[in-house]
Amino acid sequence: MMSYFAVNGGTQLSGSVRVNGAKNSVLPILAATILNAGENIIHNCTELRDVQSAVRILSHLGCGIKRQGKTLIVDSSTVSRCDVPEALMREMRSSVIFLGPILARCGQVRLSTPGGCELGPRPIDLHLSALKKLGAEVTLDGGEIICRAGSMRGRDIVLSFPSVGATENIMLAATACAGQTRIINAAREPEIEDLQQFLRTAGACISGGGKSEIVIEGGRSFGRVEHTVMPDRIEAATYLCAAAACRGHIELNSVCPQHIATVISILSDAGCDIKTAQNRVTIRSADRISALPPVQTMPYPGFPTDAQSQLMAAACLAEGTTVFCENIFENRFRQSGELVRMGARIKISGKTAIVDGVRELTGASVRCTDLRGGAALVIAALAAKGESRIYDIEHIDRGYEKIEQAYMSLGGNILRKEE
Ligand code: EPZ
Repeated sequence: MMSYFAVNGGTQLSGSVRVNGAKNSVLPILAATILNAGENIIHNCTELRDVQSAVRILSHLGCGIKRQGKTLIVDSSTVSRCDVPEALMREMRSSVIFLGPILARCGQVRLSTPGGCELGPRPIDLHLSALKKLGAEVTLDGGEIICRAGSMRGRDIVLSFPSVGATENIMLAATACAGQTRIINAAREPEIEDLQQFLRTAGACISGGGKSEIVIEGGRSFGRVEHTVMPDRIEAATYLCAAAACRGHIELNSVCPQHIATVISILSDAGCDIKTAQNRVTIRSADRISALPPVQTMPYPGFPTDAQSQLMAAACLAEGTTVFCENIFENRFRQSGELVRMGARIKISGKTAIVDGVRELTGASVRCTDLRGGAALVIAALAAKGESRIYDIEHIDRGYEKIEQAYMSLGGNILRKEE
């Protein structure tokens, strides 16, 4: 049976929705549970396909995992393996985040390179060169990475690019390195700060998370952790883009407004009325939005690449032309062809997309190309005139928990069906 979304577009969205826990925070935190050889209680864990993949890797390693609603309890006292087989690694690209913690816990690790994904080749050279600098022996053997800790010691690591995953892997591996590790030009994404908070609660001596220099004093012992995952800023940005495209009045709860400041700013410039409170964002978009200012995706705190596709869906209906420049991934305009099937006017040239807004999109049968591209197609279908069918929605389920239910609660006409 193949699942798809049946969408009848054209209704304005209104109401309030609670933003779930961040996918890109819970994944490195689940990997970090390997470090403390004990109990990890993690609250606000969204039920996502990627979280299930991470849980499968943890149980393969010998951890015990229980889910109680939105809480995951991971018992990592018995980690009996230090390898992750290809099938598990290939379920999600970010499984490379297990490299650092397994190496730190077991002194060695063997995992297959996670391979590329829809967004591009997704190299991990920054991860591997950093582990080598910390003293690990790293060998590549036919698509497998084998690392041995040897005599790892803390030292300064300068990242040529503020890679999120590489920053996280270094933080996790450095907890087992005697002495001080400084990560210079570290990624500043809020998820890094959330991971730091988890590690500190476990007993790590680490500071600077969320800034471009992070300092870890390794060799500390870890204990039981209880942590609540931060709100998902990309899920929040997705709903804001949906409100801009479908018009209407949406209130987002349990969200961190400053985490999505660039998204709020761009949509406000396009004519949306957005108000923020401590953990709430309200957007009103009664009329057709005007063309957006040029969108450059950048490392945090710049505009997030993970919200680019969703914003493009809104730009398709704007009055005027919007220029997107995707600076982070090689291939993140893949949903544009499907948007064109719905009547969008998009021209792609390398890392630039030119979107000429149209008055109306028309429902069509479309296929998700990747997680955020799929989220963009849902937005376009909800805003389009007529019926759409959205296939390959397993991409969307990787990063959103029952997204159709959130939109239904906002008045969207969307159903998950099987054929
Ligand atoms: C994280 O991926 C996120 N995933 C991505 O979210 C997000 O798009 C990305 O950060 C950027 O913010 C998770 O946190 C699980 P990077 P990551 O390392 O760590 C290049 C989503 O939709 N690079 O910062 O893989 C890489 O090719 C996902 O939720 C190297 O060249 O991102 C890319 O062009 C998609 N060598 C750029 O850096 C390396 O060793 C950004 O990658 C590592 C990365």
